[in-house]
Amino acid sequence: MRIEELTGPEARAVVEPLAELLHACVHDGASIGYILPFEPPVACAFWEGVADEVARGLTRMFVAREAGEVVGVVLLQLAMKQNQQHRATVAKLLVHPNARRRGTGRALMVTVEAAARQAGRVLLILDTRTGDPSEALYRSVGFSLAGVMPAYARHPIDPVLEDCSLMYKHIA
Ligand SMILES: CC(C)(COP(=O)(O)OP(=O)(O)OC[C@H]1O[C@@H](n2cnc3c(N)ncnc32)[C@H](O)[C@@H]1OP(=O)(O)O)[C@@H](O)C(=O)NCCC(=O)NCCS
Repeated sequence: MRIEELTGPEARAVVEPLAELLHACVHDGASIGYILPFEPPVACAFWEGVADEVARGLTRMFVAREAGEVVGVVLLQLAMKQNQQHRATVAKLLVHPNARRRGTGRALMVTVEAAARQAGRVLLILDTRTGDPSEALYRSVGFSLAGVMPAYARHPIDPVLEDCSLMYKHIA
């Protein structure tokens, strides 16, 4: 497995495999912004928007590949408000359901943290569905729970509202 950072044009070139990854994760029940029915064109539109943000320097994108195939991704969204340029948000940490529990998620988190530190950001924040495997992963790499937001997002498949854990890590 290899992790690399993509430029805007490189991000645009992998919109299709990233859309397949997002599609697979949502259909697997992940709470990552979408509910079923979730069609591939919507997933493509999402990654096209991200590629634009990468090109504009607002977001940094890291992908994990196995044998050349994209199996994971994570985004670092750089806060641009004048009073928040010390922090960044970690978003869309995704590992393909067929490639999990092999350390890819943790490796992406280590990479994104190093990039944030190098960029001078000293606070990382993120949110995740309370009780998900991702919450255990984030704790294992040093994130703390700021609090739980009740009924934050709808389950992607079932019509129930689920809690969200807001987490942070000081990386100075
Ligand atoms: C969360 C996710 C990225 C983890 O990816 P992964 O490559 O399987 O993670 P890793 O193999 O690096 O696991 C790292 C640690 O996370 C925790 N973890 C990962 N999957 C877990 C699971 N199914 N159950 C319990 N803990 C789990 C463990 O602590 C694990 O360490 P260990 O293997 O030494 O026990 C992946 O499950 C995923 O893509 N989920 C769907 C999308 C999602 O919810 N993303 C988070 C959005 S906020």
